[in-house]
Amino acid sequence: MRFGLIGAGKIGMLRAKSILEHRDTQLVAILDTNADAARATAGSSGAAICSSLTAFLDVPMDAVIVSSPIQFHEEQCIAAFARGLHVLCEKPLTNSVASAQRVVDAALAAKRALGVGFNLRYYPAIAFMRDAIDAGQIGNLDHLRVFGGHDGLHNFAADWQYKAPVSGGGSMWDVGIHMSDLARYFLGEVTEVYGIVSEKVWALPGSEDNATVVMRNPAGIPAAYEATWTEWKGYQFYVEAYGDRGMVRGAYAPMQNVLITSSKPGAARSKQRRLYPEIMVREKLYSWKSTALLSFKEELNDFLGLCAGDTKRRIADGFAGLRSIEIAAAARQSTETREAVHLPALGRMPACAR
Ligand SMILES: NC(=O)c1ccc[n+]([C@@H]2O[C@H](COP(=O)([O-])OP(=O)(O)OC[C@H]3O[C@@H](n4cnc5c(N)ncnc54)[C@H](O)[C@@H]3O)[C@@H](O)[C@H]2O)c1
Repeated sequence: MRFGLIGAGKIGMLRAKSILEHRDTQLVAILDTNADAARATAGSSGAAICSSLTAFLDVPMDAVIVSSPIQFHEEQCIAAFARGLHVLCEKPLTNSVASAQRVVDAALAAKRALGVGFNLRYYPAIAFMRDAIDAGQIGNLDHLRVFGGHDGLHNFAADWQYKAPVSGGGSMWDVGIHMSDLARYFLGEVTEVYGIVSEKVWALPGSEDNATVVMRNPAGIPAAYEATWTEWKGYQFYVEAYGDRGMVRGAYAPMQNVLITSSKPGAARSKQRRLYPEIMVREKLYSWKSTALLSFKEELNDFLGLCAGDTKRRIADGFAGLRSIEIAAAARQSTETREAVHLPALGRMPACAR
């Protein structure tokens, strides 16, 4: 499959590598406002270096990865769908509910695949959780605890990453947007959101530095979710899933799992701890980017499946991208109204077919 890449920055460079190292994909064009960045990312691949969206889309291709700053995602995704291309768009899908809805509508109208870059689904600690839950190891899911955060604005390289309205919002829109996606990924769906957000620490209007949220799936199973820019330990996230026969925890960084199982509540418990020394060593040598790259490779592979009409893979689709944004918006709305926000179930996007 022939891929074009939009945005050849920190993440785009890794996305390009994932395309170049997959046996079934080819990198045919790169669009970036910085030609040097595009050339450095293209390397010796032979990909065309483009300086306008139209020239880029004129290069014959089948799919686009959008890895540009958030405020350009909508226009670039919709233009790609208008040319009949499949799109894998970085998170967050866009910077508002209305904008995300327009991107999803364009994908549905074009009958093309829309994947969203929620690559934490492929982190080994999260994949381990998915497997343990699917295998029934913790019994019936009772509730989730979800946390994502870091220690503030010095973690950002540019304004668009954290200043609303361009960024969409604050802590719920950077690492937090992954966490609301993971909450929905494990709950199956999110249809009710109650939240309290605050902007008292970094004092950026519209960019919450802390969010405390409770969400529920249609069966009433809750997730308690916190997104923060004031985490004293620095960057980290975790998801804990509690069932009636045990619990499983996935966390990063460092990558780790805990799995506790028992035959019934109160019975003897078996505890398994899983550390990933090979990942720690690899990251010491090649940084967190080496872990992100592996996740991008798996995600790309699932995206190829999505493009072929397979909606059962682990990749996040456009509805997942839209719902993660609706959750952030609902938490903000709920802060004002002090009431829960109800959302219709979305499920998965229909298989693309044209
Ligand atoms: N999946 C993840 O975990 C993860 C992590 C970080 C960032 N991201 C997302 O990846 C995307 C890129 O982030 P980044 O950290 O690589 O940013 P970056 O600033 O390193 O790279 C952005 C690139 O886009 C280029 N660019 C700017 N305007 C453009 C335009 N109009 N058209 C085309 N290219 C343009 C810039 O020149 C730059 O090379 C963002 O959407 C961000 O939210 C995802």
